[in-house]
Amino acid sequence: MKRAKYLLGNRKVAIIGAGYVGASIAYALAIRDVAREIVLIDINHEKTDGEAKDIRHGIQSMGTADLYAGDYADCADCDLIIITAGRGRLPGESRLDLTNENIKILDAVVKSIKKYYTRGVILVISNPVDILTFKTTEWMGLPNGMVFGSGCILDSSRFVRCIADYTGLSTGVINGYVVGEHGEGQVPIWSRVTVGGIPIGEYCNEMNLRWDQGVQDDIARQTRSMGSEIIREKSRTHYGIATCVCQLADSIINQRPTIASVCSVLMGEHGVRDVALSVPSVVGPSGVQQRIREKWASEEYRSFFDAVESIRDFLQSIR
Ligand SMILES: NC(=O)c1ccc[n+]([C@@H]2O[C@H](COP(=O)([O-])OP(=O)(O)OC[C@H]3O[C@@H](n4cnc5c(N)ncnc54)[C@H](O)[C@@H]3O)[C@@H](O)[C@H]2O)c1
Repeated sequence: MKRAKYLLGNRKVAIIGAGYVGASIAYALAIRDVAREIVLIDINHEKTDGEAKDIRHGIQSMGTADLYAGDYADCADCDLIIITAGRGRLPGESRLDLTNENIKILDAVVKSIKKYYTRGVILVISNPVDILTFKTTEWMGLPNGMVFGSGCILDSSRFVRCIADYTGLSTGVINGYVVGEHGEGQVPIWSRVTVGGIPIGEYCNEMNLRWDQGVQDDIARQTRSMGSEIIREKSRTHYGIATCVCQLADSIINQRPTIASVCSVLMGEHGVRDVALSVPSVVGPSGVQQRIREKWASEEYRSFFDAVESIRDFLQSIR
């Protein structure tokens, strides 16, 4: 994969969309001291100013970032531009139901970014994230990987949480990914899940914990339905994605490469191209630096290819 040239950055982040998700990301970045400068940009200037002031008032005791409400001209010289503008799901809606509205918003956002863009990685969060990442990649015309989406990082985090709860262990010792679509076409990669470096089936056998298809289906179902469940309970999700974005932002801004299941336009990995879906990827200063071609079980490949076909068909239908 062609790598983008990266110049040492000034740790500046722009967040487009200062709603629940954008403001939570700004707050998480500020209190974790990930960035030096954070600018919030939204068509609702008054609300954005209020969010920026509210977060700023706590920074002196928790962080050092310069955080303010700005406009698109502030996208110049950013190391990272995060797109969260767009409507969220209502109870009962799928992420794909947001396409028509959010693609129009994305079109306006990308046109405005392009006027001032000088450098940096673009991270898409707005839903449907796989579709919007594909369109942003097409419209920005940057080297592959410089535009990517949060994809299945949140699903993977929920998956690890469920396994930790089942095994009674800390999330820190569980390693596992969900790949494919951030939506119904998500695929848990059970064949690669480890607990303290031990394959999960072997660990459960050793600990006399039940480990069969029923347990796996139950965890996969919980992981897939978690977003809808939270939306039914509190109308939106924002804290979970904000902490996942912190991990990605830190890897980009502070040059601490990480591995996460994020979406980017595939270039022949697993024989797939011209569609943005999640696979475990090395994320660092130039965005998705490498997509990892690990081997999966045959039924996992089948589910992944089903997700590829369904997202490809969806992309065709909106062309
Ligand atoms: N990828 C994920 O894992 C994940 C998780 C949670 C939410 N989301 C998505 O994030 C998006 C935002 O969710 P939210 O809860 O913050 O919604 P929200 O309604 O609270 O905020 C959206 C913001 O976008 C702004 N906006 C609209 N058009 C704009 C434009 N042209 N330029 C700049 N700003 C504009 C609005 O003024 C609003 O402040 C949704 O699409 C949601 O589905 C993604």
